[in-house]
Formats: sequence, C-alpha cells, structure tokens
Amino acid sequence: MFLFALLMLSTGCYQVVHGDVANYKSCGTDKQCVPYELCGEGLWLDGQFYADRSRTLLDEQHCHYMEKCCGVQQTLATAKSLNYSTTSSCGECLDEWLHLRPLGYKQLESKFAEFPWLVAIYGSHGYLCSGALIATLAVLTAAHCVQEESRETLHLVAGEWDAAVQLEPLPHQTRNVAELLLHPNYTQQPAAHNLALLLLPQEQPFELAPHIQLICMPPPHYSYNYSQCYVAGWRRQDFACNVTLPQRAPLYVLPRDQCAAKLRLAILGRRFALNDTLLCAGGDKLQFLCHDLGAIPLMCPGKHERFMLAGLMARAVRCDGPQMLSIYSNIQYYRPWIDQKLRERDLDIRPYML
Ligand SMILES: *[C@@H]1O[C@H](CO)[C@@H](O)[C@H](O)[C@H]1NC(C)=O
Ligand SMILES: *[C@@H]1O[C@H](CO)[C@@H](O)[C@H](O)[C@H]1NC(C)=O
Ligand SMILES: *[C@@H]1O[C@H](CO)[C@@H](O)[C@H](O)[C@H]1NC(C)=O
Ligand SMILES: *[C@@H]1O[C@H](CO)[C@@H](O)[C@H](O)[C@H]1NC(C)=O
Ligand SMILES: *[C@@H]1O[C@H](CO)[C@@H](O)[C@H](O)[C@H]1NC(C)=O
Repeated sequence: MFLFALLMLSTGCYQVVHGDVANYKSCGTDKQCVPYELCGEGLWLDGQFYADRSRTLLDEQHCHYMEKCCGVQQTLATAKSLNYSTTSSCGECLDEWLHLRPLGYKQLESKFAEFPWLVAIYGSHGYLCSGALIATLAVLTAAHCVQEESRETLHLVAGEWDAAVQLEPLPHQTRNVAELLLHPNYTQQPAAHNLALLLLPQEQPFELAPHIQLICMPPPHYSYNYSQCYVAGWRRQDFACNVTLPQRAPLYVLPRDQCAAKLRLAILGRRFALNDTLLCAGGDKLQFLCHDLGAIPLMCPGKHERFMLAGLMARAVRCDGPQMLSIYSNIQYYRPWIDQKLRERDLDIRPYML
C-alpha cells in the first residue's frame, strides 16, 4: 500500500505524487513490483518522462497487472510522468490508459477513466449499483437500488476502476450522502419513475480530475433515434473477485413504437404502455446485463461526441434470445425535477448542460 496525493498545478494540469512507499513484493534479485508510474526504467523525451508500460513474462508471473517488475534502484519515490491535461466540460473523457488491463481480458470491461462519471454506490451490505455524476455534489441512480437504504448507510466512490485494489494511476474519492431523494412518484409495483438523486454534503464535493468528470444532461426533446450508446457498471458478483472491473456494452436506443411492440411480445403483456418516462435499448445479449445488476447508466454521445446521460436501467426485460432488450428511466423526461432539486439547493446546473 502507498499513499497518493493529487496536486493541481498552476497550468491547470494534474500531477500525481506517490508518497510513503512501503514494502513492495519482490520479483527477483534486486527487483520489486511497483506501480508503472513509479518505475524509472522508462523513456525521457523532450524533458518528459514516459513510464514503460509493456508487460514482460516477469511482470505477468510475479506482479499485479497494474504493476511492473522494476529494479529496486530504479524505483521512484514520486511519480514523474503523470502530467495529464484535464477536460473541463461535461461528457468528455481522456483515453490515455489503454495499457491497464489484466492479461486475458477482452473488450467487455471499460478502461480506466473511460466513463469518468461512473460512480460506485455502496450500502449497508456492500456494493449496490452504479450511478452517474451530474454535479460535483449530485449523483443519479435508479430508485430501486437505494430504496432500502437511508442516507447514513450509503456512500459513493468516484474515480474507481478495479474495486479490488488501490493501484490505479489516480486515486478514487469516497463521499457520504447528505440527502437521498427518491422521485416522489416512484412506485416499485408497477415500476414507475424509478429514479433517485443522491446529494453530497455541501462542504465535501467530488473534486474533478482526469478520471472524475461530470456527464452532460440530454437537452429537452433530444431524439436518440438508433444512436449507439453504452451501458457500464460493476457487477455485484465481481466484488468477491481479485479483479473487479466495470463491465461495458454497446446498445442501440430503439424508437418507441418498435420498442413497445417488442416489449408486448415479451413478458410485459398487451396492456403495457411505454410512455415518455421510459427509454428502451437493445443489442447483442451480454450476460452481464441479464444478471442482478442493481442499476447502471445508459450513456449516449451527443453534440461534439460528448456523452450525455440518456437513462438509468430500470430492468432487463428480455434475455431469452440472442438479442436483449432493457428499459431505462428516460432522464430527458425528468430534467425539470432534477434541475429543480439542484436549484433549490443553490447548485449550479450549467456545468451539465450540453
Ligand atoms: C506538464 O505539461 C505541461 C503542458 O504540456 C508542461 O508545460 C509542464 O512543464 C509539464 N509539467 C511537468 C512536471 O512535466
Ligand atoms: C407526481 O404526480 C402528480 C400527480 O400525477 C403530479 O401532479 C406531479 O407533478 C408529479 N411529480 C413530479 C415530480 O413529477
Ligand atoms: C432517424 O435516423 C434516420 C436515419 O439516419 C433518419 O432517416 C430519420 O429521419 C431520423 N429520425 C429522426 C426523428 O431524427
Ligand atoms: C486471488 O489472489 C490470491 C493471491 O494471489 C490467489 O491465491 C487466489 O486464488 C485468487 N482468487 C481468485 C478467485 O482468483
Ligand atoms: C407513464 O406511465 C407511468 C406508469 O406506467 C405513469 O405513472 C405515468 O404517469 C405515465 N406518464 C405519462 C407522461 O404518461
């Protein structure tokens, strides 16, 4: 274990400083496993240090996938290379961490900081579900995920990636919940208005960083029209594993009539009416979406390819064929309620406007 500090430089860039280095695991004579950024066996170019992120057999055999087998003499006390520029607008992400991936993993996991607004929500019995950061003091998720909890038993983690370890290039942040607001018209049976807003204590906002960003809100009357979107979030079952990465899947948002027809054919029956409060998305069936997921955000690229929060998963409804269908609370429809709740607390909603 070691400590991190995140420094905001006057250039508007972040730099990470690792301090207080403790005992590293040995991986050979005078060699030890250290996080990539702390191994000085890299490359200097134009005064900038680039860590060596290639994997050798030695790394694979002895070190964690986020560590390098590094000469003891070459181990740095502080990281030199982490000098990422930050984005300041909602819905933007950096994609500089492609190397972080356990051996043998495929495209089913999201990369570090790929969806920097993804928040892991924990309750009294551990991980509950995933939510989305819409303001430094506000996270949205599905009501069914948090309805059994009170604000005291909840906590939120932003900037998380592999929830099983703390070896990521940048540290995650953990916050309490000051207010838990379920949508006033939420009902579990029949499921309707499945949305919850979690507010942090005023004095403890999430601090934005390259891996912690806001997602944009969809503008009113946005037409998703078969957009390719993504869902991403952690699976409860993975919290018993040595690697606990968020899963990701591409999905298409379907027009309402098509979705309604498919849903009626599926389990919801003839009388089911799909209205503006719901969105429907389909795609290749991926097992992770058909299991007990709690809640996960549906994220669509909008103007300038910036991501907006289209929905929060209410349920997977059809997982029997090769294709799957799932329904989401339509965030667009709930904008007035969300905006109002934030304004009532003097929170600025401009940062999430696309
Ligand atoms: C970080 O990057 C900025 C802009 O690219 C550069 O001006 C600055 O010198 C860099 N800082 C370090 C410590 O490398
Ligand atoms: C809840 O339902 C009532 C009655 O239909 C409606 O008047 C009210 O606006 C709804 N509340 C919200 C926040 O949408
Ligand atoms: C949806 O996309 C199709 C194909 O790109 C286009 O023909 C159609 O006009 C679009 N509909 C809406 C409502 O934007
Ligand atoms: C987790 O890691 C430990 C120690 O490296 C190993 O003994 C154990 O088998 C691993 N468990 C799983 C489920 O991979
Ligand atoms: C949509 O349907 C839900 C329940 O099926 C209902 O509570 C809600 O009022 C409906 N909303 C609109 C805008 O029709």
